[in-house]
Amino acid sequence: MKSIKEWTYSVEVRRDVVSTAAPLLRAMGERRCLVVTTPTVHNLYRELFGAMVDHGQGRMHVHVTGGREAGKTLEAAWAICRKAAEGGVERNGVLIGIGGGVCTDLTTVAASLVRRGVAIVKVPTTLIGQVDAGIGIKGGVNEGGAKNYLGCFHPPEAVFVDPAFLQTLPAEHLRYGLAEVIKIALVGCRQLFGTVVDWGPALVESGFARPADMAQEVIAHAIELMLDELRPNLFEDQNNRRAVDLGHTFSPLIEGATDFALHHGAAVATDLALSAGIAFELGYCSQAERDVIHETLSASGLPIYHSCLTPELCWRAMERATAHRRGAVNLVVPAGIGQVAFVEQAVNVPVALLAEAIAHLGRRQQRWLGPARVVAYQPLY
Ligand SMILES: NC(=O)c1ccc[n+]([C@@H]2O[C@H](COP(=O)([O-])OP(=O)(O)OC[C@H]3O[C@@H](n4cnc5c(N)ncnc54)[C@H](O)[C@@H]3O)[C@@H](O)[C@H]2O)c1
Ligand SMILES: [Zn+2]
Repeated sequence: MKSIKEWTYSVEVRRDVVSTAAPLLRAMGERRCLVVTTPTVHNLYRELFGAMVDHGQGRMHVHVTGGREAGKTLEAAWAICRKAAEGGVERNGVLIGIGGGVCTDLTTVAASLVRRGVAIVKVPTTLIGQVDAGIGIKGGVNEGGAKNYLGCFHPPEAVFVDPAFLQTLPAEHLRYGLAEVIKIALVGCRQLFGTVVDWGPALVESGFARPADMAQEVIAHAIELMLDELRPNLFEDQNNRRAVDLGHTFSPLIEGATDFALHHGAAVATDLALSAGIAFELGYCSQAERDVIHETLSASGLPIYHSCLTPELCWRAMERATAHRRGAVNLVVPAGIGQVAFVEQAVNVPVALLAEAIAHLGRRQQRWLGPARVVAYQPLY
C-alpha cells in the first residue's frame, strides 16, 4: 500500500543567504508573504530584510515575535496568523521563518493553521536551528508548563541553512547547538563525534567561522545524519523507537523544573550525560566511552549536571515519555559512540541505579567547573 504521507523538501546549506538574499527572493517569487523573525535577528540582519521588503513590493510584510522560550505560546502563533490575514496571505501565500528554534517552531504552527496549511520556508539562524529545530517538520508551542504540548507536523517547502548567521550568535548558543551535534554524532557517527572532540572548542570560539571547512563539514554532516534518522518515520507514526530522542527524555522536565530558564541545549547536554551514565550502569557502554562523552560535553562548555536532577524527576520524565511514546519508555542510551540502544521499560532503570548515575555526574561536574560555576548557565537574550 502506498502511503499518502510522502513528502519531499529541500534542505540546502549555502553561503549566499546572508550576503545576497537571493535564495529567499527566489523562494518568495510573486507570492504574498509574511516573514517572521525575532528582535535580535531583525536588528542584526537589516540589509537582508530590506532586500526582501524591496522585492516584495507591498506583497510582503514582516512580523517580529519575541525570541524567548517563555514566548513560545499559542497566543504568539495566533498573532502571526492575524498578521498573515492582514497581509492577505491565502492558500498560495508563504510564511518565511528567519530565526532560532522558537521562531521557526512558532512560524510552523502558524503556517499549519492559516487556511489549513500554507507553505513555509525556514531559515534557521542558530546552530540548534540549523542542525535540528529548523530542518524537521514539527512545530510546537508550550502550554500549561508542558513543552510543545500543542503543535503540528507541517513539512516545509524549503530550508536554507547559511553558517554565516552563526557569526553573530553568542558563544553560549553555539555551545547549545553543539549539544545537538554531539547527540546526532552519538546516534550515528563516530567520525563526527571525533571532529567535535578535535574542533568543537575552536569552532565555538570563532563563531563557527574557523576552520571554515570544519564548520561546513560539522553542519552538513549533522544535517545529513538528522535527515537520515527522520526520513523513515517523519510523522512519528511508524514506530516509537526514535534514536533522535537521545538526550530528550529527561531534558523536557529539566527545562520545566527551571521554568525554562535553563536553555534546551543545556538540558539536552545534561540528559546526554545522564543517559551515558545509565548506559554504563546497564552495560551498554564501557566506562571509557561514558567518560569520553562526559569529557566532550564539559570541554564544549556544556553542563552535565543540574541540581534539579533527582531519581524522582527522572521517573516522572520516564512516565511522561512512556505516555508520549505510546506505552513503552524506549529510553535511548548510547551503546558506545555512534550507536544507540533502547531500554524498553522504565522498570529496567531502577531508582538506585539512577541515584548512582546522578551522583557520579554531580561529582564530575564539580571537578570540571568547581561548585561556583555549576549554576552559571543562564540564557543570554
Ligand atoms: N521543531 C523541532 O523539531 C525542534 C527541535 C529542537 C528544538 N526545538 C525548539 O527550538 C527551541 C530552541 O531553539 P534555539 O536554540 O534556536 O533558541 P532560540 O530560538 O531561543 O534562539 C536563541 C536566541 O538567539 C537569538 N538569535 C537567533 N539567531 C541569532 C543570530 N544569528 N545571531 C544572534 N542572535 C540570534 C534569538 O533571537 C534568541 O534570542 C526550543 O523551543 C526547542 O523546543 C524544536
Ligand atoms: Zn533538542
